[in-house]
Amino acid sequence: MRDDTVPPLIAPRLLAWYDRHARMLPWRVPPGSDAAPDPYRVWLSEVMLQQTTVAAVKGYFERFTARWPDVAALAAADEAEVMAAWAGLGYYARARNMLKCARIVAARGGFPRDRAGLQELPGIGPYTAAAIAAIAFGARATVVDGNVERVMARLHAVRKPLPAAKPELVALAGRLTPAARAGDYAQALMDLGATICTPRAPACGICPLAADCAARVAGVAADLPAKVAKAAKPVRRGIVYVAQRADGALLLERRPPKGLLGGMLGWPGGAWREGVAEEAPPLAATWTPAGAEARHTFTHFHLRLTVMLAQVPQDTRPERGAFIHSREFDPGALPTVMRKVWSIARPALTVRDAL
Ligand code: ADE
Repeated sequence: MRDDTVPPLIAPRLLAWYDRHARMLPWRVPPGSDAAPDPYRVWLSEVMLQQTTVAAVKGYFERFTARWPDVAALAAADEAEVMAAWAGLGYYARARNMLKCARIVAARGGFPRDRAGLQELPGIGPYTAAAIAAIAFGARATVVDGNVERVMARLHAVRKPLPAAKPELVALAGRLTPAARAGDYAQALMDLGATICTPRAPACGICPLAADCAARVAGVAADLPAKVAKAAKPVRRGIVYVAQRADGALLLERRPPKGLLGGMLGWPGGAWREGVAEEAPPLAATWTPAGAEARHTFTHFHLRLTVMLAQVPQDTRPERGAFIHSREFDPGALPTVMRKVWSIARPALTVRDAL
């Protein structure tokens, strides 16, 4: 039996490993640097990294910080431009909350430095508040994401499955968190989980915590954390209508602010439901199916969209949405599922030289 009253001293070993092997990430101040972390960059990266991988975030982070180098610049930005720059990152409520947060922070003259103050801001939950408090301000805050849950479950050989085991894993993580170098420690645990203590085939042979790891001793590291089997995702269906005017302009509609893809531009269409998709077109025309359907997977369901096409006269007045001239149309400003629709529709449209 391990003595659970004495936490293993993992911080020195983990930090020594981080000093040599920290990932170079655009929002990071490397270990050993004299530079102070910029709370704006730490906050922006943590908001972008909610539900999204490091690989997907890097380019967005670099484009955002080049265009809006500080919180005042972002606070002054136009919401539609911010949403267009965010397009493709997903979970669009994050982008609107991010902008609200930037405006509050710019007005109060800076970020709150403690976890409680951070958590009052839009889009900052307990995890993100802890991450910013630790990484930007050096607070001894315990930062537990999926990577850290996995490391804790293995270190302590917690066999109870997730999500029920979560409070126990958070408590275990809390006991190990050091007061010194809290930001580096938080990021070191994330890096360990991302590069060595990986979900499948963990590289225990090169792990700096191998000697502390109860799952390794028991030979069960790769099997932990246990997870309750997830229910299969349902399939929802919908229709989208892509109308092209004689001059090449395309009919687009901004989605309502609440709900999935809230506030984003997209092709007019209807609700997405399990069963048969039905939705009246946004204008009277001869609509033909594009042939292929657009498929996209969201957190809780798979989506299949039937793509309908029409070429319409120049004087068409749509019942919904607005025609956007091809010069102003930027497929990069659409969410991923709507980009997929575009890649199906585009080859079948007849005013090609305008696109
Ligand atoms: N995931 C969430 N925050 C992160 C960070 N600061 N570094 C690496 N991965 C992360």
